[in-house]
Amino acid sequence: MTTQMTEDEDVPALGPAPVETGFPGIALYPGYLGAAAQGALLGALLAGFATAPPYRPRMPRTGQPWSIRQTNFGELGWVSRPDGYFYSSTNEVNGGKWPAIPAALLDIWAQVAHYPAPPECCLVNLYDTPKSRMGLHRDEDEAALDAPVVSISLGDSCVFRVGGFARSAKSKSFRLASGDVAVIGGASRLRYHGVDRVIPGSSRLVPGGGRINLTLRRVTKPAQ
Ligand code: SIN
Ligand code: FE2
Repeated sequence: MTTQMTEDEDVPALGPAPVETGFPGIALYPGYLGAAAQGALLGALLAGFATAPPYRPRMPRTGQPWSIRQTNFGELGWVSRPDGYFYSSTNEVNGGKWPAIPAALLDIWAQVAHYPAPPECCLVNLYDTPKSRMGLHRDEDEAALDAPVVSISLGDSCVFRVGGFARSAKSKSFRLASGDVAVIGGASRLRYHGVDRVIPGSSRLVPGGGRINLTLRRVTKPAQ
């Protein structure tokens, strides 16, 4: 049976059914969060930004600034620095810990990840300029590659691209809108993916516009 959600419903107990993506292991849940749940989540994020302000990371080797800003919630944060990509428990911008992952996000993970341990990292990507994008890449810095990456979109819609297991493989794009949840796991866990562009003005959720993407990750293998 399919559960339909109305606009202002909260996270449902069982969640709606995912739509078919054509990629085994990638589940897309359009409108998973209703307007009220999106607003509450945004409030929790903005509160966390007070202790972990989003910053513009730099690419490994070239030191080029990214076109997005980032921060993290959770025990571990994913950071991009000129000397590489790392998971770190310390926020190098201010030497502090990352704020705790908001409870609403832990609930979403519990509902859609089908994994026996909670996420350790919530990477926050802020697409805050018309030029913000993310090139095709794979999420491969996690020891727990058996856990999916759970992605939650807020604010302006984007064109999300999913490819194959080589950067040059054929790819397909999907529109991700505010409140959508995507689960990238199973046989597709290491597929290339990225964000071609954000569609300005497509949502009024984020003050000043832009898109916020949250990716929940299990980094370490849970104890047996
Ligand atoms: C990512 O791949 O880490 C982010 C994807 C997105 O912004 O939707
Ligand atoms: Fe990614």
